Parts: sequence; C-alpha cells; structure tokens
Amino acid sequence: MEFFDSHAHYNDESFKEDRENIINYIYNEGISRTVCVGYNLEKSIEAIEIAEKNDFIYATCGISPNDIEDFNNNKLLEIEKIAKNKKVVAIGEIGLDYYWNKENKDKQKELFIKQIEIANKLNKPIVIHTRDATIDTIDILKNNPVIKKGIFHCCPLNQELIKEGVKLGFYISFSGNITFKNANSEAPVKLVPLDRLLIETDCPYLTPEPFRGKRNDSSKVKLVASKISEILQIPLGKIAEITYKNANEIFNI
Ligand code: NI
Repeated sequence: MEFFDSHAHYNDESFKEDRENIINYIYNEGISRTVCVGYNLEKSIEAIEIAEKNDFIYATCGISPNDIEDFNNNKLLEIEKIAKNKKVVAIGEIGLDYYWNKENKDKQKELFIKQIEIANKLNKPIVIHTRDATIDTIDILKNNPVIKKGIFHCCPLNQELIKEGVKLGFYISFSGNITFKNANSEAPVKLVPLDRLLIETDCPYLTPEPFRGKRNDSSKVKLVASKISEILQIPLGKIAEITYKNANEIFNI
C-alpha cells in the first residue's frame, strides 16, 4: 500500500537532529510521496533544499498568516523567484488565522491576496491555512479566483467551510484532528466527494490518536486514512489509492 502525505514540515526544528533517518523511515513505511510545506521565506528555502535531496519529497513556498512579520515586498518577490523551482508544487501555506492573530486582519488579507496573485502568475495551486476565519477566507477566494485551485489543509471540521470549499473547486485535506476524541468528524468527512479528498499529517504537529502528544511523522498518515476508511466504510487500500491519485492531480506531479 502506498500513501501520499499531502502536508508535512520536515523543515521544522524538531526534525533537525534526525531528519535523514526519519525521511528514510517514512519511505520504508510506504509513504511514497509527501510535500514539505514552507510557511515563511527561510522555511520555504529549507523545504526546497529537502525536496531537492529526496526524489519522493516535493515542496511549497509561501508566507503564512502567523509569520506576518516576514511580510514585505522584497520577501514576496523572493518567494515568487524560488517558487519557480521545479520541485515546488504549490504556493503555501497561506491564508487567514484569527485564532492566533485577531489584531492584523487587514494585513493578513493583503498577504493572502498577494500570494494568490503569485500562484496565478506561476500557474500553481495554493495550500490554504484557515482558522476561525471561514467567512473571510471564502470571500477572498470568491473575489480572487485561483486558476489552479488548491487545498484546504488540515481542514477545520466546519461543515459550511467544507461545502463552500468544495463548491469553489478546492480539495479538502484531513489530518490527525479527525481521530481526536469528541472531534465529531463523521459528518464533515462524509461531505467531501471522493475525488476531492486528501490526507495529511501536518507533522510534527497534530499527531493522530493513539499517539497524541508525541512527535508526528508521515507514517502516521495511515491512521488518518484508517479513520476515513471506518467513517466511509471503504477499504483502507482504496482510501490510500484515491488520496494518492488526488494529490498527484492537484500538485500536478
Ligand atoms: Ni502546516
């Protein structure tokens, strides 16, 4: 069985000591593809370096709403420049986060829109981070159409957001959050058409049950797939196959 973890951060500090080992480990565990996601300029450069060293890893670059201090026009020009690398499969993670930052909503919106423009210029999809900002996120996507669409990463289990996202042509990626107790993930998962469904770890964060609290890695994307398999009553192998195919499609691999 082969799995595609659509969102991982091997550029994170917590992998500094054993990055190479863990990358070998996940590959041997059947994770045949993954994407190392950038969230500011420095981490986007690192994501590309990791992707260049490992055939089965791809990269994204972008400035996240939680790294807004990294936002100036020179840095955006730099993002645009490095995004031309052939291992870069999307602009991201970008979006809005009103959970961590309520004080700079306008600046977050401006940064999001400017990076949608970069994605459209380079003909790439986007990876969206959105938290407690459903209405503004959907509004921006409606008013600033993304040509190559994209992914709601670690999609909040908000049915309105999922419905609108699917309607706009986006893919929905679920992470370990669907395995958490009291997550009520059944109805949200069932809303996603099979040809828009993706799985991810967002490692080192969001470790699925029963490993919650430990460092996450891409091998645990299987637990996310298992949960979806249980909810949808579709065999695990089929979920692996569908999500693998969908990830290749959206990332144009
Ligand atoms: Ni992430």
